[in-house]
Amino acid sequence: MLLDGKTAIITGAGSGVGRASARRFAEEGARVVCADLDADAAKETVRLVEQAGGTATAVRTDVSNEDDVVAMVAAAVDQHGRLDIVFNNVGIPTPRLGMSFQEHTYDDYLKLTNVNFGGVFLGCKHAVVRFKEQGDGGVILNTGSVAGLVGWGGTVYGATKGAVHQLTKAVAVECAPFGIRVNAICPAAMPYTGFMAAGGMDLPDDQLEQVAQAAGAGHPLGKPITAEDCAEAAVFLCSDRAANITGVLVPVDGGYVAR
Ligand SMILES: NC(=O)c1ccc[n+]([C@@H]2O[C@H](COP(=O)([O-])OP(=O)(O)OC[C@H]3O[C@@H](n4cnc5c(N)ncnc54)[C@H](O)[C@@H]3O)[C@@H](O)[C@H]2O)c1
Repeated sequence: MLLDGKTAIITGAGSGVGRASARRFAEEGARVVCADLDADAAKETVRLVEQAGGTATAVRTDVSNEDDVVAMVAAAVDQHGRLDIVFNNVGIPTPRLGMSFQEHTYDDYLKLTNVNFGGVFLGCKHAVVRFKEQGDGGVILNTGSVAGLVGWGGTVYGATKGAVHQLTKAVAVECAPFGIRVNAICPAAMPYTGFMAAGGMDLPDDQLEQVAQAAGAGHPLGKPITAEDCAEAAVFLCSDRAANITGVLVPVDGGYVAR
């Protein structure tokens, strides 16, 4: 029970990494607030958590809307009396995966920036406000990407993730005196989440499996990355076992960026 008694907000909890993390956090004893733009998807995650004996609630949140983020934090505090962990996990892909840099419109740039960077900015800001009010520290985890560590396609998407990485390090340093830890996980391609469909590639199962195996073959460890891989890293980084770890960007990538 690595997260016993902790109240954790997870954004993007209706799918992929967020859902897998909600399930693992609850298994480790956390009370999970599942935030997602898609309220039905968040509620389904709550159902899965409760079915396994855990505690969770759903809140409809657009992470790029400050009023929503304030309400998300307030909901966690109202329901559980305090806040211990905020996992800013939402990220959206380019409108069409594989599109070239010059194909991006300014609107594409604004949307990617507002959700991927703006959402993490707002999530970090209001976590820090609450943690400082409580006065006994707190944990923030952000989801970056290998696309923010190396040039890897998805140019504008990758740039928003690079911004997430830098914010992670800077907030970690500034907030360390308050006992607030801030880290990021940086996944490689995870073909089995909803991300590819969100990027216009909703493949039938056999093609999806081919894509997954091809992606995995590009990693030194030779396997595709899953949402569950990220959830395990998230549990550790949000737990007291990582009590002296802050400001780090942890690739969950089968060794991809180490090459
Ligand atoms: N899947 C990949 O290949 C991959 C690779 C590297 C990094 N990532 C990152 O991992 C994180 C999780 O991605 P995933 O693969 O689980 O994706 P996913 O599409 O399965 O899940 C994303 C969730 O975020 C929600 N969402 C979208 N916009 C939102 C908003 N404005 N406010 C609140 N919720 C919103 C969606 O409804 C969905 O439930 C993202 O930050 C993504 O950028 C994904």
